[in-house]
Amino acid sequence: MTGGVAISGVSKSFGPEGNRTTVLDDVSLTIGRGEFVSVIGPSGCGKSTLLKIVAGLIPADEGSVTVDGESVKTATRDKLIGLVPQSPALLPWKTVLDNVRLPMRINPKANAGRTLRHPEELLTSFGLGHALHKYPSQLSGGMQQRAAIARAFVFDPGVLLMDEPFSALDEMNRDQQRLGLLEFWQSNRKSVLFVTHSVPEAIMLSDRIVVMAAHPGRIAEVIDVDLPRPRSVEAYATDEFRDLEGHVRRTLHSVMEETHV
Ligand SMILES: Nc1ncnc2c1ncn2[C@@H]1O[C@H](COP(=O)(O)OP(=O)(O)OP(=O)(O)O)[C@@H](O)[C@H]1O
Ligand SMILES: [Mg+2]
Repeated sequence: MTGGVAISGVSKSFGPEGNRTTVLDDVSLTIGRGEFVSVIGPSGCGKSTLLKIVAGLIPADEGSVTVDGESVKTATRDKLIGLVPQSPALLPWKTVLDNVRLPMRINPKANAGRTLRHPEELLTSFGLGHALHKYPSQLSGGMQQRAAIARAFVFDPGVLLMDEPFSALDEMNRDQQRLGLLEFWQSNRKSVLFVTHSVPEAIMLSDRIVVMAAHPGRIAEVIDVDLPRPRSVEAYATDEFRDLEGHVRRTLHSVMEETHV
């Protein structure tokens, strides 16, 4: 497979020799080119660990990951992966525009031959055209988060990894950001691996939902989301949406009972 992400038999333990805890146990998952996959599961089941392994921030003990057909090492070097961390992580002393320009400045060599998105245009498409020269502290939490998402798109990566990007936002703001991301994704199809704790968010955004179980972290069930696209707020009120919500919640419930979390 060339596009997307292929995770195959990934295991990871932490802790000293003799007292290791298995955090991920034989996790296999593929995310097709342009596919949106969400990961949901109890706290501590290894969602962030999985994302960090795919991002090349930590190595797997066993198994392999390829991104657009390349090893994670090559993929990160070639900037094929965009990462949106849980908190926006913008530099407070730089303007919004300079924060988004930063990845290009830090590693100019990696830019050679890469398609780069225009920071100004990106920020404008995320509704921040009026805030280019503002500092992060002058923005709302939602705006900061959008700037962080825009920054992940600078190198126009084929793969986007997002770790609970909207978790710090209130429900209304969150819904707005969610729909904004959906709209952006619909016109800029990326392979997305998206970690969330919100069932409606996972359903609204995803093609598939991966429900994980804890101790050790593993895939319990993969649920297809067959709702038509493009999706809008109306989707929340449909019977199909509610059926899916019931299905995901029941799976999460049985996973939680099993692990006594
Ligand atoms: N660097 C590390 N060293 C030791 N243990 C770690 C390390 N990183 C994660 N862990 C442990 O691995 C387990 C999974 O952590 P992880 O952050 O992947 O969970 P998570 O599913 O993202 O949880 P949450 O939903 O709370 O964000 C936890 O028990 C955590 O304590
Ligand atoms: Mg996490």
